Amino acid sequence: MRNENEVPFEDKQFKIPVADRLRRLPPYLFGKINKMKYQKRVAGIDVIDLGMGNPTDAPDPQIADKLAEAIKDPKNHRYSVANGIGNLRKEVAARYLRKYDVKLDADNEVIACLGSKEGFSHLCLAMMGPGDTAIVPAPSFPIHVYSVVLASGNVIALDTRKPDKFLERVAFTCEHLFPKPKLVIVNFPHNPSTTCIDPEFYVELVKLAKKHDFLVISDFAYSDICFEGYVAPSFLSTPGAKDVGVEFTTMSKGYSMAGWRIGFCAGNPEMVRALATIKGYYDYGIFQAVQIAAIVAMRHCDSAVDEIAAEYQKRRDVLCDGLHRLGWEATPPRAGMFVWAKIPEPWAQMGSIDFAMKLLDEAGVAVSPGRGFGPEGEGYLRLAVVENSQRLRQAVRAIGRCLKPEQFTAEAGS
Ligand SMILES: Cc1ncc(COP(=O)(O)O)c(C=O)c1O
Repeated sequence: MRNENEVPFEDKQFKIPVADRLRRLPPYLFGKINKMKYQKRVAGIDVIDLGMGNPTDAPDPQIADKLAEAIKDPKNHRYSVANGIGNLRKEVAARYLRKYDVKLDADNEVIACLGSKEGFSHLCLAMMGPGDTAIVPAPSFPIHVYSVVLASGNVIALDTRKPDKFLERVAFTCEHLFPKPKLVIVNFPHNPSTTCIDPEFYVELVKLAKKHDFLVISDFAYSDICFEGYVAPSFLSTPGAKDVGVEFTTMSKGYSMAGWRIGFCAGNPEMVRALATIKGYYDYGIFQAVQIAAIVAMRHCDSAVDEIAAEYQKRRDVLCDGLHRLGWEATPPRAGMFVWAKIPEPWAQMGSIDFAMKLLDEAGVAVSPGRGFGPEGEGYLRLAVVENSQRLRQAVRAIGRCLKPEQFTAEAGS
């Protein structure tokens, strides 16, 4: 499945009779920019890539050491179980208890996925069909929309940047739409807008879910990367949440294990069972050595996660300070791996896709155009703080030179 930064195949009509679900996919707006990034790389040009939330830091060495040990045991090379091995699910439950005071039954309320994106998509496939509607956050992380569309469901995208308004709109939609929405997807800390919430948000959401009979999926991908004492609340820590929904977490971000493909779904046992059922048909589970290393990660590497979060905070400050000196509006986020920046005047009229193309072409800095996350993202750019502080300073200097060559002084990027 495509994501916002993949080097694309050409976006053109298929010459074979593919299923209608492929034709229903929304236009792929990252295509042009990814193609240019790819061409620059192939030509050997250095691109500072702030396009994707793909960590560049290595996981804690204990995790790789455990993988190396587990890989030597022949029994770990067999097919594993689609749900994840018992000790892994128990470790997820233990972590939820430690971090959020949430009690989970590891056998019925936790399942491992090949990354949370896989689990999320398959859960949508298990839950949604023709005539079903899901409310998704806007601007939208593409998979929140595509996985519903690929399951033949309908999408209503509601602006999530003012969480109270989002709840009002959810309530309004439930009161006026027939049939009512079946699913509400939430994602805080939000990608791409970086919006965060306080626990009261989920209290209201659970109330609404019970009143209007919808189910909830919370995508909690950025749970581990919080700044300055903010603790992003878990949906599951709200009383009654397990009656109405599940939450996805991942080892991709906080543990820098994105390529390992390991994430989790936890909460409502019937939703977990629906996901387990569909996964039982589609896959044989995550490579067992990876599952064993993930247990070690969750058991022993809490401090490494904190260090990673502190590093992202430092980079956030470097990038936001640099952009502010260039006169940009970019509120430092409370959590996550991104800065969501408003395109400054006089460039705003250009549109985010063309502006991002300009930055890539003339400054050698790749960023994600807000429009790629739906119409609500227009006017903004998303910059991932995945490069180190020195490269971020270099990026700010290059952007300054590209936009204000006559005014720019080296000071802006210092
Ligand atoms: C909001 C959100 N959800 C899910 C994912 C996917 O995570 P995973 O690597 O666990 O599939 C990402 C990755 O960028 C994300 O930003």
